[in-house]
Amino acid sequence: MEKILVLDFGGQYNQLIARRVREQHVYAEIRPYDRVTLTEIEKEGYRGIIFTGGPNSVYDSASPHYDPAILDLGIPVLGICYGAQLLAYMTGGTVSSAENSSEYGKTLLRVADNVLFRDVPLESVCWMSHTDYIASVPPGFQTIAVTGKCPCAALCSDQKKLYGVQFHPEVTHTAYGNRILHNFLFSVCSCSGDWDAADYANQAIERYRSDLKGKKVLLALSGGVDSSVAALLLHKAIGQDLTCVFVDHGLLRKNEGDLVENTFRDQFGVNLVRVNAGDRFLEKLSGVSEPEKKRKIIGEEFIRVFEEEARKIGHVHVLAQGTIYPDVIESGKGASAVIKSHHNVGGLPDVISFDAIIEPLRDFFKDEVRSVGTMLGLPKALVWRQPFPGPGLAVRIIGAIDRDKISALQEADAIFREEVEAAHSETRPDQYFAVLTDTRTVGVMGDARTYGYTVALRAVSTDDFMTAEWTRLPYEVLERASSRITNEVRGISRVVFDISSKPPATVEWE
Ligand code: XMP
Repeated sequence: MEKILVLDFGGQYNQLIARRVREQHVYAEIRPYDRVTLTEIEKEGYRGIIFTGGPNSVYDSASPHYDPAILDLGIPVLGICYGAQLLAYMTGGTVSSAENSSEYGKTLLRVADNVLFRDVPLESVCWMSHTDYIASVPPGFQTIAVTGKCPCAALCSDQKKLYGVQFHPEVTHTAYGNRILHNFLFSVCSCSGDWDAADYANQAIERYRSDLKGKKVLLALSGGVDSSVAALLLHKAIGQDLTCVFVDHGLLRKNEGDLVENTFRDQFGVNLVRVNAGDRFLEKLSGVSEPEKKRKIIGEEFIRVFEEEARKIGHVHVLAQGTIYPDVIESGKGASAVIKSHHNVGGLPDVISFDAIIEPLRDFFKDEVRSVGTMLGLPKALVWRQPFPGPGLAVRIIGAIDRDKISALQEADAIFREEVEAAHSETRPDQYFAVLTDTRTVGVMGDARTYGYTVALRAVSTDDFMTAEWTRLPYEVLERASSRITNEVRGISRVVFDISSKPPATVEWE
């Protein structure tokens, strides 16, 4: 499989670079510069290497560098921003810093006739974000683009296939950014562009089939998109050597536990252990109303249940996780994988011995994970499942939790989701759910006074869940949901709609 290495020097747009490359049907994988050796790079047979941006100055002693021998491998290199400065520095150019040379934002770029700028107009807009600049071009290189302030906005050695751009082609504000990346991939690296997510899945299945032969692999399945796709991929590769443990903490949405069990065990024949631990969790949560305490109890109990099941399986060779790329970013570079593995399976590495961790989806974005899932035949309900917090309905029941509240919320939530989904509205939210508040209010039903709980409906639109807008759902949808919830769910006498955005509110109520 032809692939591009995105060598990560700590820039903020690195994930975008990989994404832009994969959008052009060339596989790209990101590796932190300090976690991949020259020998490994050589062995992987990359078609090209992209040095990413980064916050440092090449002259800082602590700034990230790489063995200059990487430039002698005969593999084309494209340096972006810091990556371009590093390329210049490594080959004998100079990088300077001057107050008045920094550029930030949209900047007019003038390009020369070069393969990198094929079909790019002489003048176009690019996105700049730098203080340092390349002051003198290394021997054997030439300047192929300039801006008002930047004497070298791009440089190249066509002969050695080494290129650098000071601007960010991966950002949409760079008008011809995709074209420039395309030129690098197809004209410089001679890629053919025949990769897609399905290809990846097939190749990964083949690879795991041989790498994991005869090994016992354990995966914690939550029913979320990521762990579901990882489970299916590994199941196709190693069949019954994969054991999936699905801890049902009794705080899932209506029928969700059964959906997961039916899909994986009955439909796909996955070796699935479902642990119905609802009672255990409820017991631990009894009388607890403080949100953080609830989360902590659930996290700890989850580990305990998982440990017990894993012990029954015996020695596990490999622990598999459904970590995807945004998880890796959020956890930060360096220790990221470890932080996340502890986070995902709650400290499991300390208690259960295994020889290795695999994360088949760690280079993927959510939409790519969904394509792989679709290709593997995962049902739509799971492929398009909206995000659901690990602690489940516990953080959507305000105050103390009991069985009646869980089932009331499950019903109300199912009704609301049904109504939103039935509406086929253009304003379909990215996440929508019901919350059971601890506020009781007076109502009237027939001729009788009621004193029931208040359900809050929440619907948000967002790109990344870091910020979110409340979704302007049509009144008719709200009306139907409200009427059905108060009629069909016992103990609920009032429904309100949450019109808070994030910030200042969060998506979940607890
Ligand atoms: P907040 O409430 O922080 O939620 O605005 C942002 C997104 O994260 C989800 N969320 C969680 N997901 N474990 C998870 O896996 C959790 O503990 C958790 N808490 C919140 C939330 O549903 C929303 O999509």
